[in-house]
Amino acid sequence: MSSEDPDLTAAYALQTPDDNRALYARWARDYDTDFAAAEAYALPQATARAFVGAGGQGPVLDVGAGTGLCGVALAEAGSGPVDGVDISAQMLEVARDKGVYRGLIEADLYAGVACDDGCYAGVVSSGTFTHGHVGPEVLDEVLRLAAPGAVLALAINAAHYEAHGFAAALDRLAPQIRDLDLPEVRIYGPAAQGAHRDDMARIAVFRKR
Ligand SMILES: C[S@@+](CC[C@H](N)C(=O)[O-])C[C@H]1O[C@@H](n2cnc3c(N)ncnc32)[C@H](O)[C@@H]1O
Repeated sequence: MSSEDPDLTAAYALQTPDDNRALYARWARDYDTDFAAAEAYALPQATARAFVGAGGQGPVLDVGAGTGLCGVALAEAGSGPVDGVDISAQMLEVARDKGVYRGLIEADLYAGVACDDGCYAGVVSSGTFTHGHVGPEVLDEVLRLAAPGAVLALAINAAHYEAHGFAAALDRLAPQIRDLDLPEVRIYGPAAQGAHRDDMARIAVFRKR
């Protein structure tokens, strides 16, 4: 891999939606092998487990679906149907090839998703609420898409949870949510070797009122 190749360091240095579009266009085809398998990336499975464990049901929206790893984990758990939304057409192409999504939507979460209020009974997200990607401002849009009573399981990089305003945003949204649980999980499995191998995420698991 050359220093020009996409990797986690480049991903954490992103700043804007256009930065994300450009990096993931180049990373899409190798993401599952060079990143997810090589780093024993475990967050999509942990997020799907948290969703199912909280009684989550479909139809589910996978926010920042990427190449579809969370959709695969949900399908393996028997949860669906699942739609995915992502800013990267190239990542969504890889997700489409996995054959587990009902629909895939190319959209910038900051600009909003063209879908009626409350159109999903469940929402999941892994690896998207993190360094240089999507911030707490988007939680209002995510909640808008969820139906009353919907289960949401949103993984948030633990280093960002307080520092980048997710804790404050969830406090602000408290009147609209209930049963908030925040389990802390490892993002990578025991085989991970990279500099981020010990990174943690909080999975915000809650219901929309
Ligand atoms: C680290 S990947 C995670 C993908 C997948 N959920 C996983 O766990 O493997 C982050 C994803 O967020 C998407 N993303 C970043 N900014 C976005 C935005 N503003 N709107 C929608 N998707 C965005 C990227 O295109 C990328 O697919």
